[in-house]
Amino acid sequence: MNKKTLLITGGAGFIGSHVVRRFVNEYPDYLIVNLDKLTYAGNLENLKDEENSPNYLFVKGDITDAAFLETLFNQYQFDGVIHLAAESHVDRSISNPMEFVMTNVVGTVNLLNMCKMIWNGQYENKLFYHVSTDEVYGELGDDGKFLETTPYDPNSPYSASKASSDHFVRAYHHTYGLPVKISNCSNNYGSHHFPEKLIPLMIHNILNMKPLPVYGKGENVRDWLFVVDHARAIDVIFHQGKMGDTYNIGGNNEWKNIDLVKLLCQLMDSKLGREEGTSEKLIHYVTDRAGHDFRYAIDAGKLMNELGWQPSVTFEQGLEKTVEWYLSNQEWLTHVTSGAYKNYYQQMYSNR
Ligand code: NAD
Ligand code: DAU
Repeated sequence: MNKKTLLITGGAGFIGSHVVRRFVNEYPDYLIVNLDKLTYAGNLENLKDEENSPNYLFVKGDITDAAFLETLFNQYQFDGVIHLAAESHVDRSISNPMEFVMTNVVGTVNLLNMCKMIWNGQYENKLFYHVSTDEVYGELGDDGKFLETTPYDPNSPYSASKASSDHFVRAYHHTYGLPVKISNCSNNYGSHHFPEKLIPLMIHNILNMKPLPVYGKGENVRDWLFVVDHARAIDVIFHQGKMGDTYNIGGNNEWKNIDLVKLLCQLMDSKLGREEGTSEKLIHYVTDRAGHDFRYAIDAGKLMNELGWQPSVTFEQGLEKTVEWYLSNQEWLTHVTSGAYKNYYQQMYSNR
């Protein structure tokens, strides 16, 4: 008998797969249902190691489809939802904002409605946990950090859609008393990261001696957190965070893009036995991202002081683990870049 039945949305994506792995392994008495549409970013190969776990179940479906969700929620009567499903890439949001409105805003409201429907005012031991981003706070200049109280000021269609979803989650708490928690995290890095984002894209291109596209002058700053530490933070907030509260999550680890790319070049040259300086020659400055936010930095003091969370690895350790993972899992990269990962669902689930 499972103590809790949890829905994790977007569990086949980068962060979602780490959250699913953590909850399946840490809480064997929870049933974890992973709902994912398997868009280009969803890859069930990310969870190969969990697919036969007795407390894990995968369901393919779309959070914008309210009728489908109603059937699913009636069937499983979830005690909690950890919502990660989203369109997550800023550059794609610039070319196709509507996809972001549909999944990130409409999809989130659909899920809130389903929780409201099945919980029907009986909120004890129930929780809707919304996973969001630091980008909702807009951009910083050279100084300062985002606090939970920083006013929202999103700049890209992606961050505007995430900000909107955060507002709906708050509104459902305020208006209907729905039990919710929100976390806003900085840039994640680690294994299973789709190679359209900075770190995995650079690793892939360095490996293949392809140009390394650095936007603008490479001076924009991001705060990087190891994905396993994000999953740990979600676990802590899910179980111990205050109802209705927001928690910022970050690595206190700011890097200019160009410095980070150079660091990756050095690390990869040494791992691949290449002469020092070989990969840096691949750096190629390209047209800047439209509306490119200059700097993000998170103050995670509330999470650290109230809930005792700390990152478990330094950036050097996390980056080393990440590069090693990509080097030992080149088949994963080949499947993602060739599109072969899309066949995995067909092979695994066609007769289930
Ligand atoms: P991702 O793009 O790797 O994964 C998103 C997942 O959602 C994919 O598996 C995709 O198939 C699924 N999905 C997309 N649309 C769907 C739909 N309509 N119905 C069901 N499933 C759908 O994203 P990620 O980087 O793992 O980010 C996960 C969450 O964390 C997002 O909400 C994102 O905003 C947030 N976040 C990401 C970062 C980061 O650095 N990547 C930082 C802070 C917050
Ligand atoms: O801050 C959290 C956010 O971090 C998440 O909410 C988003 O889902 C996630 O995608 C990420 O957004 P960014 O836009 O910061 O990540 P990205 O990896 O796309 O880019 C990181 C920085 O590197 C950014 O300043 C743009 C730059 N960049 C990116 C790519 C893909 C390049 O210079 N070259 C590139 O090829």
